[in-house]
Amino acid sequence: MLRNPTFVEESILRKVPRWRDYLEAKLGFRNHWYPAKLSRELDEGAVAKVTICGENILLRRIDGQVRAIRDRCLHRGVPLSHKIECYTKDTITCWYHGFTYRWDDGALCDILASPDSRAIGRASLRTYPVEEAKGLIFLFIGDDGIAPAPFSEDVPPTFLDDDLALEGDSYVVASNWRVGAENGFDGLHVYIHRDSPLVPDTDRSLPIGHTAQSGDVEVIEAEGRPKGIYDSFANHHVLWDGAIGGEIVVKGVRSSRTDGSATRTTAASLWLPGVLRVDDFPDQDRYQFEWYVPIDEDHHYYVIMIGRRVSSEEEARAHREEFWARWKPVSLDGFNNQDIEARLALETFYRNDDAWLSEMLIEGDAPIVKWRELCHAHNRGVQSPENLR
Ligand code: FES
Ligand SMILES: [Fe+2]
Repeated sequence: MLRNPTFVEESILRKVPRWRDYLEAKLGFRNHWYPAKLSRELDEGAVAKVTICGENILLRRIDGQVRAIRDRCLHRGVPLSHKIECYTKDTITCWYHGFTYRWDDGALCDILASPDSRAIGRASLRTYPVEEAKGLIFLFIGDDGIAPAPFSEDVPPTFLDDDLALEGDSYVVASNWRVGAENGFDGLHVYIHRDSPLVPDTDRSLPIGHTAQSGDVEVIEAEGRPKGIYDSFANHHVLWDGAIGGEIVVKGVRSSRTDGSATRTTAASLWLPGVLRVDDFPDQDRYQFEWYVPIDEDHHYYVIMIGRRVSSEEEARAHREEFWARWKPVSLDGFNNQDIEARLALETFYRNDDAWLSEMLIEGDAPIVKWRELCHAHNRGVQSPENLR
């Protein structure tokens, strides 16, 4: 059962002046680009419903190009998705009284039950700018009349590189998007992954923790570029053994590789509006990208894409095959499932707005606080329940 989106109380927001917008953004940030679906999931002519930042949206692929309109009839407000009726390639008709809209500009172009109405040609449904890249369909969730921000500023560096082949999959997770982002970026939480099948599969090292000092993370906030926090694990103190009272009780895993190759993840970076890049993961020479797209207050769309640089179509095909044969079962379902488990547990605490004031963060959590501050400083607007009315 979904909750109605609610505002965060002013008395709570006032207590975190340096990351107030982040605390307020339980539905995410407006005027940003978000992945809505994997390209392979939307065939020519197909219609799909998605919800991003609480906004219900319909997608259709027409002559290869994806169009996006609001899923709410102008007449009496019913969702068009309740019963999809597309009588022509370029239009969608409301199942209730036949209001008919064009996919490309949302214009009300006919009313089947009232063809002489003066409303025809005078109103339009909201449409959303679309970009499709690297196997993902992105939408710009923006304010009316505002030109979309450059797409390349809302994806991590390297993601759009021509030689990067990508393949991935997606999940819906029952936690707020911020809980997802912080879990992915958390340098201490490697602790939960020590029994993952990925560790023996790749013969990688897995320490007990990476303890960043706050000065070690780089804040990237230059104008006209993606905004993010870059955390280079190579600079960190790495902890291999967990001890209680001086006695070792948990051991990290050390790689037995002897070929000199990188044996552990080298860096993680988290970018607005909520996308992680992990370098040399799930194995060396790969990048993992993870989006935590707000669906509503209590759910996020978790998209994982694994990239590798390739120099031919053959290598790209081999990368895609490796994704399905190896990374999907061993890494997504055998490593990131541990992250999903952690987020579900976190959600029981953080779903209360005032919980964000009673957490007890420690030194190694400094990168997470920098992330919150970055979001506050550089978001292009907080999504509010009012925008959904
Ligand atoms: S509610 Fe859609 S046509 Fe009447
Ligand atoms: Fe993790």
